[in-house]
Amino acid sequence: MIKISGLSKRYAMGDSTVDALNDVNLSIDEGEFVAIMGPSGSGKSTLMNLIGCLDQPSDGHYLLAGQPVDQQDDAVLSQIRNERIGFVFQSFHLLPRMTALDNVMLPLRYRRSAGDARADFERARQLLTRVGLGDRLNHRPNQLSGGQRQRVAIARALINQPAILLADEPTGALDSRTSDDILALFKELNAQGQTVVLVTHEEEVARHARRIVWMRDGRIEKLEGGANDAA
Ligand SMILES: Nc1ncnc2c1ncn2[C@@H]1O[C@H](COP(=O)(O)OP(=O)(O)OP(=O)(O)O)[C@@H](O)[C@H]1O
Ligand SMILES: [Mg+2]
Repeated sequence: MIKISGLSKRYAMGDSTVDALNDVNLSIDEGEFVAIMGPSGSGKSTLMNLIGCLDQPSDGHYLLAGQPVDQQDDAVLSQIRNERIGFVFQSFHLLPRMTALDNVMLPLRYRRSAGDARADFERARQLLTRVGLGDRLNHRPNQLSGGQRQRVAIARALINQPAILLADEPTGALDSRTSDDILALFKELNAQGQTVVLVTHEEEVARHARRIVWMRDGRIEKLEGGANDAA
């Protein structure tokens, strides 16, 4: 699904450069649940942004489902992003004036082919039901709890049936019980076949993943199997 080789990202900062990512090699198979861990500044978000085609590498190669993603122009990248990748962020990124349903349908506005409004609505409704919000369809974000907002964001991330679901600290803004619920939802989606890549600070969270990628100073320090491998 994902094949990354020699991936680097340098930022120019005045006279110096920051090596945010340095020669990273990583393969992720379809159906995997991978956690990315490591100290602050180790390059986790940089790696996620490259995997999610939000950014271009300085060096190296990236194949997503067989398609070369490095060296593509912005138009191609945004198309890949919209069609193949679902994003979940720590701070939800929902549009405040829209209902849960409209937030979930938002990514459909950017697709290339004409849509069927009735089918879109039905699909969004099913996804909200799947994440446990079948009775909150017309609530706006400020009428929902933090955990419920993140569920809306997850439903939105799934609307285009992405090849990968990417989440950068998705439980970072939630209390521990709500975090557990959201994590259980990621696990459930993965059990249903969804490929999931998740950044987290919490080892507790990472242990639910099948594989943990440990980052340090822009490099992969080690790769280890998580709970499911040991079991
Ligand atoms: N746009 C940028 N310009 C310059 N340097 C950057 C930029 N983005 C990130 N960096 C640097 O790259 C390194 C990696 O940053 P990154 O955000 O990937 O870390 P992280 O592992 O996600 O940290 P955290 O756990 O705090 O979110 C850091 O040293 C950071 O200062
Ligand atoms: Mg980060």
